[in-house]
Amino acid sequence: MQAHILVVDDDKIISKTLTLLLNRLGYQATSFNNPVEALKWLQLPGNYPDLVISDVTMPEMSGYEFVSRIRANPLTSHLPVIMLTASGEIDKKIEGFKVGADDYLVKPVDRAELEWRIKAMLARSQAKTTPQSHSEAAIFSVFSLRGGVGTTSISVNLAIALAYLWNKPVSLVDLALKNGHCAMMLNLKPKHTLSSIAAWDTSVIEADTMEKLLLKHETGVRTLPAPFSPAEAELITVPVIDRVWPYLRASFPFIVVDAGSQLVEPNLTVLERSHNILLIVTPELASLKAAVDALKIFDKIGIDRDRVLPVINWVFPDSGLPQHNIEAALKTNAAAVIPYNKTAFVQAINTGKPAITTNATSKTSMALAALAYKLSGNMMKDQASQTPSKWLKMAQKLAQAA
Ligand SMILES: Nc1ncnc2c1ncn2[C@@H]1O[C@H](COP(=O)(O)OP(=O)(O)OP(=O)(O)O)[C@@H](O)[C@H]1O
Ligand SMILES: [Mg+2]
Repeated sequence: MQAHILVVDDDKIISKTLTLLLNRLGYQATSFNNPVEALKWLQLPGNYPDLVISDVTMPEMSGYEFVSRIRANPLTSHLPVIMLTASGEIDKKIEGFKVGADDYLVKPVDRAELEWRIKAMLARSQAKTTPQSHSEAAIFSVFSLRGGVGTTSISVNLAIALAYLWNKPVSLVDLALKNGHCAMMLNLKPKHTLSSIAAWDTSVIEADTMEKLLLKHETGVRTLPAPFSPAEAELITVPVIDRVWPYLRASFPFIVVDAGSQLVEPNLTVLERSHNILLIVTPELASLKAAVDALKIFDKIGIDRDRVLPVINWVFPDSGLPQHNIEAALKTNAAAVIPYNKTAFVQAINTGKPAITTNATSKTSMALAALAYKLSGNMMKDQASQTPSKWLKMAQKLAQAA
């Protein structure tokens, strides 16, 4: 496979020349004239260069600062970095190596030297690549344009179901920013939320701070709670999300997002980044209309329909629209139907014990576990053979029966 190289140099002529040179050498190259932009790009899913070439002296952020940020972020810390400098001065080299650069090139870059150094660097890094370096959390967002349809209940139970199935920690991100209830449903009392870090500088949040932000639940679910008040919710912008996102993506195999019912910028961004969006519909006309509207919006912003999975949630006991009518209106089959279960859900809210933790054998819990398996089974194929949990065995049986 063609290696992908990220080039960062504020001098447009140099970055363009390097890009062309790299292309001619058979590499894919992405270039930026500003390290801040390059850092943003690195945080987006799918952007995994194999090597970084960075200038040292740049106006908005120095190459040294750029490299130390790459090293501080668990998602990029393994990347080999070659620094470019105008002179071969020894003190600059030392400074570069101190922040974690792996090699040096002196400008103007000699084609043969560039080729040789890149080859050597890629060979070395491929030999020591850690298994984590190319793994990326699967992101499942739960959304509805209409409130009160069970978005939070499904997010919380789905996160637990994933943790139960695979015995892995799962991150639950509460992006129902103005009325988040994930922490409450898990009986957790947050001290800090995303808005606590909103006023900090723009750097990626470090691991120990993230550990403090993520509330621990006995099931293995780690919750990033929603802001305490609607006023604090206003502070949550896309850059704030971007500061916690790399840690979440690198540290958990799954991220479940309660995306609430509002299409504000941070939610839209996370929906765009999600591998699947569970669109929650209750079997009544207003909810169905909201789901149809949501699909239209997704189409407009370029979210592929294949990624959107309708989930029918019975929040009332009977007289609902038939499943086939809902599926016809949405032009796709439902990924799951969650049966009505008043006792389990009311009890869950009152006790802070989610339905799936107390009613393991109910139809509702089984439907949630089957949904979790449907979302994750394929990507976890290799793990399925190792001592499966009782939940995994049950979900596999349900999948076979279906
Ligand atoms: N399958 C179900 N059976 C019975 N009750 C349910 C079911 N799913 C959710 N509920 C109940 O419906 C109500 C709304 O659920 P929830 O808070 O999860 O919805 P929401 O879409 O997140 O709402 P909000 O817009 O207020 O955030 C809750 O009282 C919950 O217990
Ligand atoms: Mg909610």
